[in-house]
Amino acid sequence: MLPIYIETFGCQMNELDSELVQGQLTALGYQFVPRPEEATVILYNTCSVREQAEQKAYSRIGIIGARKRAGENLILGVIGCMAERDGLDLFRRHPQVDLMCGPGELDRLPQLIDNVRRANAAQNLNFSEPLAIADRTALAGNRSRRSRTLQAAEDNLESLDLSRAFDPDSTSGKRHSAYVRITRGCNKFCTYCVVPNTRGAEIHRPPDHIVDECKRLVDAGVIEITLLGQTVNHYRYQHGSAVTIDGRPAPQVGPGLSAFRTSSARPNERTTTFADLLARIHDEIPALKRLRFITSYPRDFGDDILSVMRDSPRICRYLHAPAQSGSDRILKLMNRGYTVGEYVEFVDRAFTMLPDLCLAGDFIVGFPTETDEDFQQTCALVKRLPFKNNFIFKYSPRPGTTAFDRLKDDIPESVKRYRNNKLLALQTEVSLATHQQWVGRRLEVLFDEVRTIRATPQKEARPLRVELSPISVNGRELKTACAMIPKVSVTYQCVGRTAGDLIVASNCNNEQDSLDFIGKIVIAEIVAASPLLLTGLLPHRHDLD
Ligand code: 5AD
Ligand code: SF4
Repeated sequence: MLPIYIETFGCQMNELDSELVQGQLTALGYQFVPRPEEATVILYNTCSVREQAEQKAYSRIGIIGARKRAGENLILGVIGCMAERDGLDLFRRHPQVDLMCGPGELDRLPQLIDNVRRANAAQNLNFSEPLAIADRTALAGNRSRRSRTLQAAEDNLESLDLSRAFDPDSTSGKRHSAYVRITRGCNKFCTYCVVPNTRGAEIHRPPDHIVDECKRLVDAGVIEITLLGQTVNHYRYQHGSAVTIDGRPAPQVGPGLSAFRTSSARPNERTTTFADLLARIHDEIPALKRLRFITSYPRDFGDDILSVMRDSPRICRYLHAPAQSGSDRILKLMNRGYTVGEYVEFVDRAFTMLPDLCLAGDFIVGFPTETDEDFQQTCALVKRLPFKNNFIFKYSPRPGTTAFDRLKDDIPESVKRYRNNKLLALQTEVSLATHQQWVGRRLEVLFDEVRTIRATPQKEARPLRVELSPISVNGRELKTACAMIPKVSVTYQCVGRTAGDLIVASNCNNEQDSLDFIGKIVIAEIVAASPLLLTGLLPHRHDLD
């Protein structure tokens, strides 16, 4: 069994891709190990959304290069968005990279690894020439992907999702929560975003495939499913299409943003909308305790979706709906397709229908031409709405995007940093106020992690007494320092999430008690709040089912 290591950068879509890759390679006899030092094959599943994520991956690639130069026989694969974006340039600049595989070609990864292994074996015996680039590269290539026909848009990628391993006895990862993809790629072309280039056209999976995958996960013990898509509320599947894979319905290319401006996007009875999909999963899989979805696009989020959420108790009252900016001028430059007023209208409508809703989002600061006034408008939006949290990013110019080509990155780094910190501080206040509203309530929490907190409370025991005691190593007597450390107290805490994705931490009596809560949905009484989490009191262990 060949030891293999995978590290994932970036978003949940990448996490799911890594999970599928692991399932695929484990089935072929590879053994995943927790540290790169233990592996012969090392895979980096990369992200290109911001430069920082890419720099991190390059530094890892550099470390593997040093290990290879020191004589270690390793295979290094770069998969995901950075591979797709860099293309063959990556091989030229980092010759230690053996193979590359874009996010749309992951079904071909085992073959690439196999090609490199065979070529290495042959080379060690002086048998052969170096492996041809084509045999160690699987990239979609931007242009070819965009022009793919419906017929070809899907095929092998869908089979990768469909071949997902459902192992109730698996010990890897969180077995209680899982991601299920409903769309791939994106057609929105926000001007700053590299995703439409790296992940290609937006493809919508057939609803039957999605429901089936959810059912099988629940049969394998999963109780919480998060549906994934770049803009989930734009999910729309047209039935009766002539396009099939082996007689079964095939995935379809989704419309661009402009399609939602015309009446042609109106659903008919032969269409499964996002609302229909949510209702189907909720109603057809009663054993699924929590259904959530990310990411929502703040446009075209209809009342039909909100009604299904309201009428389906196991659909989480949670929305991750990135506003990106609070300035209409900047939103226009970003090609987001909505105004601040429309965003606020959408959020107000959602809270009216779902009073217990939790709202999260993303903002970008320092977008080209962003003035102090634009930034103040962003601050005003953050103050106005009850966001539980916002991910805040400094604008990072990405080659290949419209903003990179047309707009100068003219906001100095110091201003970006200042605005980033300012918005974070503001969000911290808003998060605290939002979290405090839950104090005194009883909330269902799905616990998935045990934390230990170590404290050395006896101040009077300091300074530490240090004694020198002799020990014997290979017959030689050495003096070694032996510190008299004050007694450390350990608290066990279990940490989980509410349906609204609020983090709850609860103290437990001991390790065993805390482990008993893992993987269960438990009602906790919320007794305190901070900007990041809630503190909950738990029932006694014997009250659990
Ligand atoms: N610079 C900064 N942030 C970005 N995001 C996407 N592209 C960029 C970029 N070029 C952020 C957006 C998006 C999140 C996933 O990443 O806020 O919602
Ligand atoms: Fe990127 Fe915009 Fe698509 Fe989100 S909706 S993935 S920000 S292009």
